[in-house]
Amino acid sequence: MCGIVGYVGPKKVAPLLLEGLKRLEYRGYDSAGLAIMNGKGVETRKVAGKISRLESLISAKPISGTLGIGHTRWATHGAPNEANAHPHVDEKHEFAVVHNGIIENAGSLRRKLEDLGHVFTSETDTEVLVHLIEAAFDGSLEDAVIEALHQVEGAYGIAVVSSRDPHKIVAARKGSPLLVGLGDGEHYVASDASAILAHTREVVYLHDGDLAVLDRSGYRIIGLDSLTQTRKVSKIDWDLAQMERGGFAHFMLKEIFEQPQTVASTLAGRLLLNTATAKLAGTNLSDEDLLAIDNIVITACGTSWHSGLIGEHMIEESARIPVEVEYASEFRYRNPIVNDRTLCIVISQSGETADTLAAMREAQRRGARTLGIVNVVGSTIARDAAAGIYLHAGPEIGVASTKAFTSQVVALALLTLKMARLRDLSVIRGREIIDALQALPGHIQQILDRAPEIEALAEEFKRAQNFLYLGRGYNFPTALEGALKLKEISYIHAEGYPAAEMKHGPIALIDELMPVVFIAPHDSVFDKVASNVQEVKARKGRVIAITSREEPSLAGKIDYEFRIPETIDMLTPVLAAIPLQLLAYYIAVKRGSNVDQPRNLAKSVTVE
Ligand code: M6R
Repeated sequence: MCGIVGYVGPKKVAPLLLEGLKRLEYRGYDSAGLAIMNGKGVETRKVAGKISRLESLISAKPISGTLGIGHTRWATHGAPNEANAHPHVDEKHEFAVVHNGIIENAGSLRRKLEDLGHVFTSETDTEVLVHLIEAAFDGSLEDAVIEALHQVEGAYGIAVVSSRDPHKIVAARKGSPLLVGLGDGEHYVASDASAILAHTREVVYLHDGDLAVLDRSGYRIIGLDSLTQTRKVSKIDWDLAQMERGGFAHFMLKEIFEQPQTVASTLAGRLLLNTATAKLAGTNLSDEDLLAIDNIVITACGTSWHSGLIGEHMIEESARIPVEVEYASEFRYRNPIVNDRTLCIVISQSGETADTLAAMREAQRRGARTLGIVNVVGSTIARDAAAGIYLHAGPEIGVASTKAFTSQVVALALLTLKMARLRDLSVIRGREIIDALQALPGHIQQILDRAPEIEALAEEFKRAQNFLYLGRGYNFPTALEGALKLKEISYIHAEGYPAAEMKHGPIALIDELMPVVFIAPHDSVFDKVASNVQEVKARKGRVIAITSREEPSLAGKIDYEFRIPETIDMLTPVLAAIPLQLLAYYIAVKRGSNVDQPRNLAKSVTVE
């Protein structure tokens, strides 16, 4: 989820790249750098931190040239420091690469390259690319890039320059967006058109498997088989503000729509099909450590607490380890029973939430092992937890958490799979979980393709004063999450409840004005939820149901139905959350709320 920009033409390149990087900063902002052809070789400037620091460095130590590439990083492999910042160069500073994405076989490639004498200076997966290109170079940069890309597995958008083929930029994509910008005697490459929109509106979007070769006089696109590809030139009509959100009206909507990719990123490289388990490299927990755990405490706040509740259900059901889920703000002031055989799972998108951090420290003080499930690389929780699982969901800018939630649930499913397979979960059941995880991105996309249905539903309910969200089993937390999404951005009062618990009080609220959202996929508690639907309908409540198949028992009882694809019970919250996020979003927009920065809230709550 980083940003790339490159330029070849007659203008001074450093200011152009800095300007482009500033426009891309929303994509990632933990470190940045440039590589410029200075007439003699490749010269780089890199900093940890924001683009403004890179700008200061370049004012203090100018760099001149008319061809170069730049990058703003959102760390995935390695801490956000100068050494890990892009561009990465080879030992002789003859080649430089910027990269978005994840090279999944970086570990094995690195070992092979080191055996051949290559010296690595960063912890990144990207650095293998520059060494592979250098090793493959035989006079043509594009040929070397093609040879290198044949060896890598994973996702990439890259831009490459070299003093040994000094008049061109070579760019390539697979799974990470990249486009070429067309000017008069000048060409650009960027991960996102916002970086170059001030200079050109004519762009060519690269397809997966494309490689673009740009110089001052022109550009050509070839495949990894070196054959020429024809791609159409598009004209961009959006303004800059829209572009930074990728054409979406709000970051929240963009982030909702990113979920097929973000869930795929959380899964990337972590499923072991043969042994039907998960590989969680960053956990630092050996199989023996995981087997020695007697109990688990999950601590978190807000949306992250909701994913923790789903994790509790998964782990107890499949791994048979007792789990308690605690609000971090409560845990820190209790006298919790944890010891050195307790695993404390700390869930936080930002990795900086004050209560969650304090809860983690309290657990550590009492001798528990801590494992962070965090999105922001290099954040305090990520650094200080004994073990960690990164979500790899990219920057979440909208205050309402969306893509982080689905990735948290997926990360918890991976951890469950790993722990359960170490205990007594069968290979067959392990494979079923893997199949269901792999199907998630496609299923999410199917739901997103039907967003207009949810928008129409929002129109119907935008004036409601209250909402009730009901679910059972895995989807009681989904009900809580649906209610939280709605209240935080639309300011409508909403409550989530276990569906059967409704009878013990909230049922008094139900009348013909009360919308009740049932999360009712066809899972092991469906029949029970169906009875609760009947109870609401008998009191004239307006029933909106998220279902997964035609259910005769609900005939005539539902006012609005939205069907999601079927999956295994433990993953139903991932799919059910998507229409609930869309419903909250569309209602909030129709009520005129500032959905990305709702009143009174902050993206990261760093005070107690
Ligand atoms: O960064 P964290 O996951 O630790 O944040 C926890 C909560 O502050 C967060 O989930 C909050 O509830 C969101 N605004 C929910 O959309």
